[in-house]
Amino acid sequence: MHFFQYRNSELYCEEVPMSLIAAEVGTPVYVYSERTLRRHVEVFENAFSEVPHKVFYAVKANSNLTLLKRFRDWGLGFEVVSGGELFRTLQAEVSSDRLIFSGVGKKSDEIRYALETGVLFLSVESSAELQLIAKISAELGTCAPIVFRTNPDVDSQTHPYISTGGRQHKFGIDLSEVKNLYRRAHEMKEVKIVGIGCHIGSQIVELAPFESALSSLTAITADLINEGFDLQFLDFGGGLGISYDGEKPPSPHDYANSVIRLIGDLDLTLVLEPGRVLVGNAGVLLSRVLLKKQQRGKKFVVIDAGMNDIIRPALYHSTHKVIPVRARQEREIVDVVGPICESSDFIAEDREMARLETDDLLAVMSAGAYGFSLSSNYNSRPRAAEVLVHGNTFTIIRRRESYEDLVRLERVE
Ligand code: LLP
Repeated sequence: MHFFQYRNSELYCEEVPMSLIAAEVGTPVYVYSERTLRRHVEVFENAFSEVPHKVFYAVKANSNLTLLKRFRDWGLGFEVVSGGELFRTLQAEVSSDRLIFSGVGKKSDEIRYALETGVLFLSVESSAELQLIAKISAELGTCAPIVFRTNPDVDSQTHPYISTGGRQHKFGIDLSEVKNLYRRAHEMKEVKIVGIGCHIGSQIVELAPFESALSSLTAITADLINEGFDLQFLDFGGGLGISYDGEKPPSPHDYANSVIRLIGDLDLTLVLEPGRVLVGNAGVLLSRVLLKKQQRGKKFVVIDAGMNDIIRPALYHSTHKVIPVRARQEREIVDVVGPICESSDFIAEDREMARLETDDLLAVMSAGAYGFSLSSNYNSRPRAAEVLVHGNTFTIIRRRESYEDLVRLERVE
């Protein structure tokens, strides 16, 4: 459910015509719908309302400060994976007990920063990291709250690059080692075990991988509780997929029901770390056609957004719908490509879609998650602006970068 709809053949975001945003802010520009974000948060929260739970938004999906502030106002916590993400959330005036810190390789500085901030817990992914956290915690004279991220060895049936719960992956701790680590950590006065977790991947559109992971996780959790460990949190990570182009992921409600059923009577607070499901379909990338060209029977539509603005098609061969801002009936088969000097710079390949002409505006749909946050300055292209729409108004929540911004940190020697 989202609020990007045609009215009289014109694409709107809520009550604002997309053409107005393009006229005032230029293109390419990311456009987010506040009403959609709000609704997604409510639906996700409500789905878990019958059990004790906490939702920590995965900041990597979209880390714009204004969005973080909205999520804070709507009651969410935040899952961060770097000092930079921690800094961002603190800029958004998030209180420390609403932060959790994960990541397979944390720098000492980052661990120190997290402990000084007083995050709710750090997720630990190796015995080496346990040692490092204990050492830093001792230096600071604190007791670090930790959960261990397990690796349940499941096939999450998603793109291999965003699959994280298999034995072959760098993530988490092998189930055969988990209990020993708990016993070791229990002996350390610099750390306090507060839970257990896993995260098996992203854009997962079936329940089966979640269910298989959660069965392993609850079994080991029950064993640990029986052994006397005092666990408060069961962190099931993120990963619930969205519909980009016809996929049928479980609804948050169905996902929650299956999670709640598998948790059974384990007396723990459920922790969830959704990213994509909250922001993915709440944002689009608005762009303009630069020109069309035809070569050896192939038709290319060259647009002003490139793989530096949205890298998902190049990186994961992901499908984002591309629709014209002014609706058209005629259709044709085209490649929609950016201006960047690489053949991987495509948004859509051999796609039958509404016909686009030079200067037409178009929207790359479902671009709210891992769109701007994965963008870069490749080809020395200033990064796009970001706009948040609320009802019949909109605000620029990140201005377009300028050429000066591109060289600001450099020094000519
Ligand atoms: N928690 C942890 C520990 C994670 O690593 C991630 C995502 C999440 C939560 C949130 O997952 P989500 O609910 O968004 O699926 N760039 C890729 C996605 C990478 C996901 C990385 N980790 C893409 O554009 O598809």
